[in-house]
Parts: sequence; structure tokens; C-alpha cells
Amino acid sequence: MTTWITICDTCKRDGWDQTDMAQTDGEALADLVETAATGLQNVKTRRVSCLMGCRKACNVAIQAKGKLCYTLGEFAPETEAASGIVSYAMAHAESETGQVPYRTWPEAIKGHFVTRHPPLPDDE
Ligand code: FES
Repeated sequence: MTTWITICDTCKRDGWDQTDMAQTDGEALADLVETAATGLQNVKTRRVSCLMGCRKACNVAIQAKGKLCYTLGEFAPETEAASGIVSYAMAHAESETGQVPYRTWPEAIKGHFVTRHPPLPDDE
């Protein structure tokens, strides 16, 4: 099953307005995540504008149907963060429930979890 990485492309970290502001921090992180996920079969990416976690920029969501889903924040738009996000998404895709054993978490995502969403119950 596909795990989706949803990246907020409007996130701006503290100090962003002291830069050249050529792109948002979220756009920079999205570029890196998309590059890291290129060619993967079971991980896809998309961009949205605002995940409503603006104070914890940069934010991403890790989601798959019927699994535990997560939002993670406070990432810098750096290669190490992007690579950790994608590695975690790959482990999420391989997990039956979306719960990835802590011992297998990439170092770059530790301390970045913001929320966990249990899967919705079946309609009936
Ligand atoms: S701008 Fe990224 S969460 Fe709001």
C-alpha cells in the first residue's frame, strides 16, 4: 500500500525573512523530499499549502489508508531531514498498521512527531 508524504510548501521558519526569500522553507524541503523519494514504488509525495502547524515549521504528514498516520514538524529544509522523512515513510509503507518500531526510526525524525491519527473505523 502507498504511503503518502504531504509536505507543506508554505512553511516559513523563524528567520526566513532574513534570507533572500526566493522560496519558502517548505518549498525547499519539498524539493529535497521529492528528490529523495524519486523512483520509489510505495512512497508518493504531494504538496499542500498549510497543514495548520505553522508555528512548528517545516511540517509534513505521513499517511496511508487504514493505518496510523502522523504529522511531524520543526524540520529544517536540509538533505538529512528529507532523507529521514523518506526512510520513515518507506518503513511506514512496509508496516501493516503504520506503527514503525522505534529502533528502526531514522535519527533525523526523532523528536519531530507532533500528532498521531488512528485510522478511521469502517463505515457501516
Ligand atoms: S504554513 Fe506550513 S503548516 Fe501552515
